[in-house]
Amino acid sequence: MGAADGKQGPLLCVVGARPNYMKMAPLLSAFRARSDLPGAVLVHTGQHYDWLMNDQLFRDLGLPPPDVNLEVGSGSHAVQTAEIMRRFEPVLDDYAPSCVVVVGDVNSTLACSLVAVKKHVPVVHVEAGLRSFDRTMPEEINRLVTDQLAEVLYTTEPAAAQNLAREGIAPEKIHFVGNVMIDSLLAHLPHAVPAASTLDKAGLSVDGRGFGLVTLHRPSNVDEPEALTETVEILREVSERLPLVWPVHPRTRAHLERFGLAARLATPSIALLPPAGYLEMLGLLAAARLVLTDSGGVQEETTALSIPCLTLRDNTERPITVERGTNTLVGRDRKRILCLVEAILAGRGKKGERPEGWDGRAAERIAAHLAGWLARRAVAEPLSRVSP
Ligand code: UD1
Repeated sequence: MGAADGKQGPLLCVVGARPNYMKMAPLLSAFRARSDLPGAVLVHTGQHYDWLMNDQLFRDLGLPPPDVNLEVGSGSHAVQTAEIMRRFEPVLDDYAPSCVVVVGDVNSTLACSLVAVKKHVPVVHVEAGLRSFDRTMPEEINRLVTDQLAEVLYTTEPAAAQNLAREGIAPEKIHFVGNVMIDSLLAHLPHAVPAASTLDKAGLSVDGRGFGLVTLHRPSNVDEPEALTETVEILREVSERLPLVWPVHPRTRAHLERFGLAARLATPSIALLPPAGYLEMLGLLAAARLVLTDSGGVQEETTALSIPCLTLRDNTERPITVERGTNTLVGRDRKRILCLVEAILAGRGKKGERPEGWDGRAAERIAAHLAGWLARRAVAEPLSRVSP
């Protein structure tokens, strides 16, 4: 199917979980728009599979259905990673791709990179070099290993190149291109579902104060009863100042119920929603007075939209959102959070600015660079085969 017929094999583009989709959508259209790139094949590992976590987002983003679905589903990290590897290998053999394109830091990113590199297929990593320096986060391990394996590393912010240099990655492999997540944001913002209609449906009455948006799913915040109880109590207090709307991730929903915390959230000023679609989420983000989150992507989206963001973590792998954007790290520091909420409501929230390269054209830059890189490689490869 690929290199055996003398033509360049396709670009094998991998997605697995929700935050991958908004990164891959602009890449896939930029790849398919260029005649000097081989065709792009979309592989879905099936790490996320619920309609709300998956199909709805594909639809909102205009992503075509995957060409291949590995249907791995949930499991422990080891089981999920191993199962993706096992099922991805024959697909790689079948397509003989020119390269495997992976995005972000989920288990699918790591698993497919490992399979590819052992088969001598180059790995292209989009959103390389981000580091929280917290190795208890599964995503940090995925980032570290994927970047060691990748042949081409595309970065979103300057700190990434410094991190990669420190880890011994050759500078010629690293390319600053900007942020593909913001490509999706800017492209879809005009089609966002108005927040008023989502709030109406959720039965949250917001009056003149507006509302705050909550998203939480990190194991450090939601997996242990103490941490989740603390978070829930903080949210209750914030909701006395500002109504909150919270699209709840399935793992968080399960833990709220298991730890008996759902009842603590049954107040008229907090609306718990199922996971939001992409266009619904954009509408909520753009209209929120502030956002409380532990998501990586939401830290970037709020910076791009100039919405104050309080991140319930002690670190971030996206430091530019704090240095230049609207993000503040607050951990679970109740007093600090309440104080910052007051400041934001009084109009003293961070305004920030949009970082360089977060301009809606990152995918285009990646496609252009990749076309040149593959062409140079195609010339260099036969030469290296005949050299002694
Ligand atoms: C994964 C990513 C994380 C990303 C997040 C976004 C890794 C290590 N983590 O975490 O970086 O920010 O996705 O959502 O890859 N579940 C469903 N339906 C689904 C998917 C999951 O109900 O469609 C439930 C399952 O009970 C599952 C749990 O959520 O066990 C966790 O899902 P999983 O994909 O393993 O990790 P996330 O926490 O979503």
